[in-house]
Amino acid sequence: MNEEQRYFDKIAEGYRALDTGGTPVRRFSEVPSLLKHAQPLAGMAVLELACSDGFFSRLLRRAGAASVLAMDLSPEMIALARAAEAEAPLGIDYRIGSVLDMGVLGQFDLVFSPFVMSYARDRHELLAMAKALFANVRPGGRLLSMNDNPGLLPDSETGFAKYGKTKRITPPVQDGADLTVTWRVPDAAGRDRSLAFECRYFTREALEWALAEAGFADVRIRHPEVSPEGLAAHGEEYWRLFLQHPLLVFISARRPWTGPGSAS
Ligand SMILES: C[S@@+](CC[C@H](N)C(=O)[O-])C[C@H]1O[C@@H](n2cnc3c(N)ncnc32)[C@H](O)[C@@H]1O
Repeated sequence: MNEEQRYFDKIAEGYRALDTGGTPVRRFSEVPSLLKHAQPLAGMAVLELACSDGFFSRLLRRAGAASVLAMDLSPEMIALARAAEAEAPLGIDYRIGSVLDMGVLGQFDLVFSPFVMSYARDRHELLAMAKALFANVRPGGRLLSMNDNPGLLPDSETGFAKYGKTKRITPPVQDGADLTVTWRVPDAAGRDRSLAFECRYFTREALEWALAEAGFADVRIRHPEVSPEGLAAHGEEYWRLFLQHPLLVFISARRPWTGPGSAS
């Protein structure tokens, strides 16, 4: 096991103890926005990369995906995902592995990568990741990446704790800058707990460059939404800061059709 795996295995202990799926940001924004942007899902073969405890894998399968293959670097994260699968089987195939050396696992209708590009060390590795994603999308298929917002406020901690997740970029704000992500979640006893981990910030220009260079077309970056339930539960004022300065974005892209007789 390498150092990176050990690092995320420790984070997995936090994922086991805390209901990250119940945080306002995940419940009222990430989930409904993902369900919207992932459509059409019915009958689709989905590959999810950096699936952690399988939270989104189960969501996509329940929302109609025909199959979900989900991979994560951390054996402990995959153990959590497999435990959930054993408890309520959905037929999801969870595997341990790195995006950077996964090769071609198949030709998927949809490759979903929640925050995986934030684990590239620099632009060179960002491009390697984008190429790895591309290799697993079938011609005509789609990539959907949930990503740290390249327009993130460098201090996305002040005022953000109420959403259940905060972020901070260590200056200078540039490609590869350290980005600290902190879940702020009540534990089973209702005490506020935090779980922090490090990843990296990339500019919009770098993300768009890497995806285009890898061969993707129609690269689009969209802000997340807040569901009507989220607005009803907390009110518009509560969400104002988040909607003005979202913690995340959705990046969609398409692998062009190739071969004789097909339009790209
Ligand atoms: C702390 S989690 C956050 C992302 C997670 N998808 C979520 O939204 O909750 C980061 C995950 O990315 C995984 N990861 C980091 N680098 C990876 C890589 N190169 N390949 C696959 N998984 C990776 C880690 O093992 C960890 O489970």
